[in-house]
Amino acid sequence: MKKINYQIGVGCADITQKEKSYVMDVLNKERLSHGPYSQKFEKSFAKAHGCKYGLFVNSGTGALRIAVAALKEAEGWKDGDEVLCPAVTFVASSNVIIMNGLKPVFVDVDSRTYNIDPREIEKHITPKTKAIMVVNLFGQPADMEPMLKIARKYKLKVIEDSCETMFVKYKGKPVGSFGDISCFSTYVAHLLVTGVGGLACTNNQKYAEIMKSLANHGRDNIYLHIDDDKNLSRRRLAQLVSRRFNFIRLGYSFRATEMEAALGLAQMERKDKILKARKKNAGYLINKLKPLEKYLQLPWHPKYAEHSFMMFPIVVKKDSGIRKADLVMHLENYNVETRDMLPLLNQPIYKKLFGNLENRYPVAKWVNDNGFYIGCHQKLSKKELDYIVAVFKDFFDSRKII
Ligand SMILES: Cc1ncc(COP(=O)(O)O)c(C=O)c1O
Repeated sequence: MKKINYQIGVGCADITQKEKSYVMDVLNKERLSHGPYSQKFEKSFAKAHGCKYGLFVNSGTGALRIAVAALKEAEGWKDGDEVLCPAVTFVASSNVIIMNGLKPVFVDVDSRTYNIDPREIEKHITPKTKAIMVVNLFGQPADMEPMLKIARKYKLKVIEDSCETMFVKYKGKPVGSFGDISCFSTYVAHLLVTGVGGLACTNNQKYAEIMKSLANHGRDNIYLHIDDDKNLSRRRLAQLVSRRFNFIRLGYSFRATEMEAALGLAQMERKDKILKARKKNAGYLINKLKPLEKYLQLPWHPKYAEHSFMMFPIVVKKDSGIRKADLVMHLENYNVETRDMLPLLNQPIYKKLFGNLENRYPVAKWVNDNGFYIGCHQKLSKKELDYIVAVFKDFFDSRKII
């Protein structure tokens, strides 16, 4: 079959006139640090995810790192306390647990949704367990209801790593509204793309204040932005000036700029269109690839959860007679970009830190060995989707499998 002469990527930068005009407005006003665009973006993004407070920072990892740190500080967790974390996720979910001096304890995932399996959680709970890091992977909410029940039973906090999932609902409630703190990423190839960026959202004022301070070098919250000293009474100004350069905890420099916020806000205003196109593209691929279902496990979601299709995950089925590596190389040779489906426990650094854990997590191992994803983003045309389907069919035809 004829090869396309450019790569069909897993994600896209979708920059319309709206994004360009918002970014130009930032540049024209020469206000690059946290300002009106950041405030509007934070507010509308948090609201869309059922949260009162939103903090825009320079990455999803940064958001997760300060989320865990804020919980540790506010709840008095000790070094070595444990946080449950899915055995399949992007490394950042568990890296931030380790970097906060805590111990990730892995939990196997569900073989159909690839999200943390609530039935596997309780057996990993010990007196040191303080929280569950629930990850909404690939655009799909995890099964929250049983998880929250367990969290309540054992008095565990819930951190929702929703870096890959935005704007969709689980049993009628938006992702991000379930965790004590929820984190999102707007890095390249995510649902909203600001280059780099991430958000931490919460309904808890104390957590919000600690996170704001942590993202700003551990500064006293009285002065975080350059507008904070404007229009104050004489008494309040004096108080602010005396504390403006106070640092009250060890913090980070995790701020994002107004340009990223402008990109985020513009896409936020187009989010329904973006999600609709992704769902349509994923639905089209699922339909066209159905004849291959004997060999490939295609994306699926239960009726009670929506899917925002950050990507299109596929797992080569057991006894299919094909090897993932061959199929992936066929797709790559035909310029269809693929990625591994977020293997964690077999990463060199995780093996070094925790030894050979993979065999204790059979579903995660199966996903690591056989899972990969391709893109289904909003900029793919019908012609490109048909091309992707043709490349899959060509693989099976050329091996006389179908
Ligand atoms: C599940 C998950 N958590 C965390 C992150 C980290 O986000 P960022 O790349 O913005 O730091 C990602 C990024 O891809 C992710 O997929």
